[in-house]
Amino acid sequence: MQVNTLILGAGAAGLMCAAHAGPGALVIDHARAPGEKIRISGGGRCNFTNLHCDPSAFLGANPHFPKSALARYTQWDFIDLVDRHRIAWHEKTLGQLFCDDSARQIVRMLMDEATGAGADLWLETSLADLSHDGSRFTATLDRQGKRQRIEARNLVVATGGKSIPKMGATGMAYDIARQFGHAVTETRPALVPFTFSDTPFKPLAGTAVPVRATAGAGSFDEAALFTHRGLSGPAILQISSYWHEGDEIVLNLDPGGQLFDTLRTERQSQGRRNLTTVLGQHLPARLVDFLAPTLGLSGNLADQSDARLAEIVGALGDWHLKPTATEGYRTAEVTLGGVATDRLDSRSMMSRDMPGLYFIGEAVDVTGWLGGYNFQWAWSSGVAAGRAI
Ligand code: FDA
Repeated sequence: MQVNTLILGAGAAGLMCAAHAGPGALVIDHARAPGEKIRISGGGRCNFTNLHCDPSAFLGANPHFPKSALARYTQWDFIDLVDRHRIAWHEKTLGQLFCDDSARQIVRMLMDEATGAGADLWLETSLADLSHDGSRFTATLDRQGKRQRIEARNLVVATGGKSIPKMGATGMAYDIARQFGHAVTETRPALVPFTFSDTPFKPLAGTAVPVRATAGAGSFDEAALFTHRGLSGPAILQISSYWHEGDEIVLNLDPGGQLFDTLRTERQSQGRRNLTTVLGQHLPARLVDFLAPTLGLSGNLADQSDARLAEIVGALGDWHLKPTATEGYRTAEVTLGGVATDRLDSRSMMSRDMPGLYFIGEAVDVTGWLGGYNFQWAWSSGVAAGRAI
């Protein structure tokens, strides 16, 4: 059988590409249903884009690479599409847009767009073999137990990254990239909780606190969450993308920078109260109790000199921790790194070395922050390839 375009992966990027690739596109996926990650994303409501989407929210070896695709299909274009399909949405926080009802609406919308554009979808189909004869790709597919040969002018690789293997994530995109001479940058789990081998935060499990979390060049003001195994919460997931094994992270428990002045003022009105009690008005009481022995928190607030208050606030603002590891691909929202962008055309996502070969979505070495950025990259890169085809 001959098709114009064979798209590997019916996830966010693959379906979006199919919607723009014109008739004669065949999308295959080894899963039973399309868009499974979309379905479970955002707690079932899919954080489908971010109002503040901008190339600075993306990591990769070449920070300029995502600019073209993101500029040519923006968050506003995707919001238009969602509106045309009458899917109600709301902004939750920090520009993050979610469906009011269900992430399934986004999957349905993409399926309608793709099939409306003339694409076919084969589920429970995997790739057994792939070759290129100089002008066409030949793929041997395993479709529900039967072998099928497909010839295609274009091949779009949209099989995502390695995160959540239980959901069918494979490293297939990297194998195909290498097969056709493309480099793959180092991959590691990102947007993922940290673990600590001595589980120091067990007594705090479930406690959330606003922080400024920093790892390497990444610094985020959001909530951190103590867990049985270590640290999670949006601020922590964000900095995990900037963290390397062996690095320290820094938590600033006074991200607003007003605690010293506040405590000085309260020393006049609440001087007879315990220091820990007063601190417990600004930080979770369990966290204050946890830190008290290390920071030597004792006595009444009135007993604390300015210098002592400055010392305490300084320590709260500069808490150094050394995670042992992350929870890995088992829970990571995305894979950092991937198909190297140096030999891809940033306007079309096509290989510079093999015309007709495209890589899109999470498979590529472009990784967004938490908050709808990764889906926007899937939409933008999918449209870039689809339009170029
Ligand atoms: P995606 O993973 O969506 O699709 C790849 C497809 O290829 C899958 O359907 C898979 O079955 C198929 N496939 C893989 N290997 C194959 C093989 N060997 N043969 C055949 N098919 C194969 N992002 C965001 O912006 N907002 C959010 O709210 C969330 N929430 C979220 C929650 C959770 C739990 C996770 C794990 C991830 C998120 N993300 C997110 C990240 C987001 O899901 C991710 O960035 C996109 O789905 C990437 O889109 P792709 O199409 O590139 O890959």
